[in-house]
Amino acid sequence: EIYLHGLLEERVPGYPTDLSALEDAAREVLAPGPFGYVAGAAGTGATLRANRAAFDRWAIVPRMLRDVSVRDLSRTVLGTRLAAPVLTAPVGVLSIVHEEAEPAVARAAAALGLGSVLSTASSTPMEEVAAAAGDGPRWYQLYWARDPEVTASLLARARAAGFTHLVVTLDTGMLGWRPRDLDQAYLPFLRSTGIANYLTDPAFRAGLAKPPEEDPFGAVAHWAGMFSNPALTWADLAWLREHWDGPVVLKGIVHADDARRARDAGMDGIVVSNHGGRQVDGALGALAALPGVADAVGADLAVLFDSGVRTGADIVKALALGAEAVLVGRPYVYGLALGGEDGVRHVLRCLLAELDLTLALSGHASVGELGRDSLVQQGV
Ligand code: FNR
Repeated sequence: EIYLHGLLEERVPGYPTDLSALEDAAREVLAPGPFGYVAGAAGTGATLRANRAAFDRWAIVPRMLRDVSVRDLSRTVLGTRLAAPVLTAPVGVLSIVHEEAEPAVARAAAALGLGSVLSTASSTPMEEVAAAAGDGPRWYQLYWARDPEVTASLLARARAAGFTHLVVTLDTGMLGWRPRDLDQAYLPFLRSTGIANYLTDPAFRAGLAKPPEEDPFGAVAHWAGMFSNPALTWADLAWLREHWDGPVVLKGIVHADDARRARDAGMDGIVVSNHGGRQVDGALGALAALPGVADAVGADLAVLFDSGVRTGADIVKALALGAEAVLVGRPYVYGLALGGEDGVRHVLRCLLAELDLTLALSGHASVGELGRDSLVQQGV
């Protein structure tokens, strides 16, 4: 399609297809605060770099003459049928990059048959995003608030809005040390409607001294003291089970023992993730954790993966190392910044096209054929 438009000397779709060029293009259209918030990482950026380096340590070994003329990228993950094993990762406060924000992401993903996970820190109330997802899958990410009544209230609302799967983020008991945001004194939650789900929540409002309209600063301070809870332990998962009757996926697992604990606690899945390198500086690259975790629990739990996925080849590697599906973060946010829903669709379509080509050219007709023997480890 792109080549055909090239014949007509139109540069369509008008966005870069190389995802690192996409980051540069997004830098041009975003103010320094929002760009730094999205692109930034914890501390020196060592974990962000480790995420990419971990992909470079694995190489795909293409196989020939295996009839790859008909291909199947689809996969069912925890009962959710996906056209390809790709979901958009939960990213908060998307209104700071484009006014179309979270509903645009939900629409773009649903139109392509992909999954989409809505952040608790959404800048759009969850009911509106649920409506935008239409018939598409509805997964909700929870930042587990300090006040159990607020958490229970958010979960009840998510259920009522038709969200079926819960992704509980465990690696953000507090925000990481993020020099780019600190240097610019930029925290989007203080500047946008990024706490929409809290501000519209009855249990949250009940705890406020004054209504958020009268005292927006007080509401934000209340939110900041509430948004996540560093005191949580494995024992608290029982409470979660009582308040959510669908599948529960724990996000932020990078140790095989934690994966086993998730299984023993009756969880349905995990996301092997280091939050895109935004929390612990000097942590291991997320892909380096994947094989050990998949070996430990892959037969018992749905193992998903994120942090550093930028290309179709990356998706092939993560699937070959034991992920059932991947989540993609920053790339689609850059697409949103550049072109709203159209930009998100562009990024997701590029990823799917490259996944399809890489799969075929390496001799696989379906994502189910990928395994550890599809790769070799290379010394870098
Ligand atoms: C995030 N991430 C995140 N995760 C989450 O569970 N809830 C959230 O609200 C957010 N917010 C958020 C904002 C921004 C700007 C980014 C970049 C990331 C983490 C996200 O879900 C995912 O783990 C990473 O983005 C994956 O890494 P890549 O694909 O960005 O390298």
